[in-house]
Amino acid sequence: MITIQKANEEHIDGIAKVCIDAYWATYSELLSSEYINRMIREFYTYDRILKEITITNRQWNGWIVAVDDGMVVGAGGGGMISENHGELFVLYLDPNRRKEGLGSMLLDAVTKELKEYGAKEQWVSVTKHNDKGIPFYEAKGFFCVHEQLEYGVVEGEDYMALRYHRMI
Ligand SMILES: CC(C)(COP(=O)(O)OP(=O)(O)OC[C@H]1O[C@@H](n2cnc3c(N)ncnc32)[C@H](O)[C@@H]1OP(=O)(O)O)[C@@H](O)C(=O)NCCC(=O)NCCS
Repeated sequence: MITIQKANEEHIDGIAKVCIDAYWATYSELLSSEYINRMIREFYTYDRILKEITITNRQWNGWIVAVDDGMVVGAGGGGMISENHGELFVLYLDPNRRKEGLGSMLLDAVTKELKEYGAKEQWVSVTKHNDKGIPFYEAKGFFCVHEQLEYGVVEGEDYMALRYHRMI
């Protein structure tokens, strides 16, 4: 049975695994291994995820996980970026579990929390040409507003991210 729930310490390794596996499956053809490894080292360590589970607030509402038979199969999280704008900061699934509706369930759960914090509009950044993510957001009513340099690029990298927006 699949449950959508707030993550606790039991889910840390599962969150890291799902996100790291999804990073390689999603970005191998779009971003360099150097960039991907740098992001994985920044975001998906045990200690960072432990903090993100322990310390939650308006700016970071905490991890939400999809759990199937005790295994983390998807993870996401959001937070407020201004008075009434919320953002989906992260959303990844086990690459073998895409297109079963899990992403929709996680997005709904993150969005519900954002609305409780007063969000009327929602944002998400998607890597340009990410065709495993963009069609999902467009199916959910997001529109691309503008593009900007991808998070964390260093000199010599010119990766771009698209800022997607919807009313909620
Ligand atoms: C993006 C992601 C979380 C979506 O979750 P999912 O469980 O696969 O999506 P769902 O099954 O809930 O699909 C919801 C809708 O989006 C559509 N959709 C999702 N991915 C799609 C794709 N690649 N192409 C076309 N349509 C897609 C589905 O057809 C469905 O439409 P419907 O409601 O009209 O039937 C998941 O596919 C994923 O992990 N992708 C790779 C990582 C990624 O890009 N994450 C986002 C980073 S910003």
